[in-house]
Amino acid sequence: MIIAIDGPAASGKGTIARRLAHKYGLHHLDTGLLYRAVAKAVLDAGFPPDDIGQAIAAAAALDPEKFDESALKTQQITEAASVVAAIPQVRAALMNYQRAFAQKPPGVVLDGRDIGTVIAPAAEVKLFVFASPQVRAKRRVAELKARGEEADEQAVLADLVRRDERDSRRAAAPLMPAPDAHLLDTTHLDIDAALRAAVAIIEAVRTGRKRG
Ligand code: CDP
Repeated sequence: MIIAIDGPAASGKGTIARRLAHKYGLHHLDTGLLYRAVAKAVLDAGFPPDDIGQAIAAAAALDPEKFDESALKTQQITEAASVVAAIPQVRAALMNYQRAFAQKPPGVVLDGRDIGTVIAPAAEVKLFVFASPQVRAKRRVAELKARGEEADEQAVLADLVRRDERDSRRAAAPLMPAPDAHLLDTTHLDIDAALRAAVAIIEAVRTGRKRG
């Protein structure tokens, strides 16, 4: 089984993906980490994130088994990730790894921006998780503070809206729901309620398949 989860920043998709993987005994890949790692490599080498040559080389050299997740979650890398993610050759270089991961038995949960549309268009279940920008900004502030980073809610909101726009307007694999994705609005849901809603969708899809 492949469960594809897409959605904008801080919508809850990552937590839902992790918990679904645990519940169903599936592998989980947070594909945002791939773009974050490319961004970090470019910045660490002293280049701006829109240096196309550096970003392509970093994507080609990436070793996804060696990620230090907490070092990839800073605000600077978050912003830079969305810049390198708009470069088509960077996306192409990361495609094989994601598609190979998606074939792992007994199944996988992948979360990102283009999983249901580009990486795994044949996924059994596709979720598009979203929430109002204000609620998402509050969640991201809480996350950053828990990590010990300073965070101003208005600034986080502005960053998040700008990044959503960049992710949605880019030509290469823009953020958008697949036509057959189930929409999950988490604006008024805490994480347990969001997980229950996701499970309900998955169970309905599976039951429908068995009947059909
Ligand atoms: O956690 P958050 O949603 O803020 O970020 P993320 O999922 O780690 O993704 C960081 C950035 O990587 C996004 O803003 C996208 O530009 C890019 N990304 C992408 O283009 N495609 C994916 N499948 C995953 C992330």
